[in-house]
Amino acid sequence: MSSDAKPYTIITYGTFDLFHVGHVRLLRRLADLGSKLIVACSTDEFNTLKGKTTAIPYAHRVEVLESCRYVDQVIPENTWEQKREDIVRFDADLFAMGDDWEGKFDDLRDLCDVLYLPRTENVSTTELKQLIQRMRGNGSPSRNVAAG
Ligand code: CTP
Repeated sequence: MSSDAKPYTIITYGTFDLFHVGHVRLLRRLADLGSKLIVACSTDEFNTLKGKTTAIPYAHRVEVLESCRYVDQVIPENTWEQKREDIVRFDADLFAMGDDWEGKFDDLRDLCDVLYLPRTENVSTTELKQLIQRMRGNGSPSRNVAAG
């Protein structure tokens, strides 16, 4: 690709609370697919709207994402509706999410490609929070996070 060629830009959305290996693997696979990866990170206010409470505040989740080598830019996700505007504004070529969202954003195909990648099994923020709850209850974890 010549230096002035337009980057193949990928955009993805998520909360990325308690940043874990499932997040890393998703971001790595996305970075491998293009030349610029933009992550829209859900704000605390938007999470409240979604009924989600985060352990890590928005500013810290952004800082963690920005330190990830696969991520080129982090923007706030404030609403469900902003995706179309973001895709146009950032000239995104690909909108991608984990396959827990399979089919949910197919309406964006008139603007760019849409891809759902398989999730990493046996790890999620929800599971980590449950594990921490159990550790607090028992004084020790009943199991560790699955390896692999
Ligand atoms: N993701 C993934 N593999 C996992 C967990 C998440 O590929 N094991 C992907 C999701 O599909 C999404 C992105 O990472 O595209 C951000 O997901 P997020 O909702 O922040 O993470 P979860 O761990 O799924 O959080 P929760 O349990 O709160 O839903």
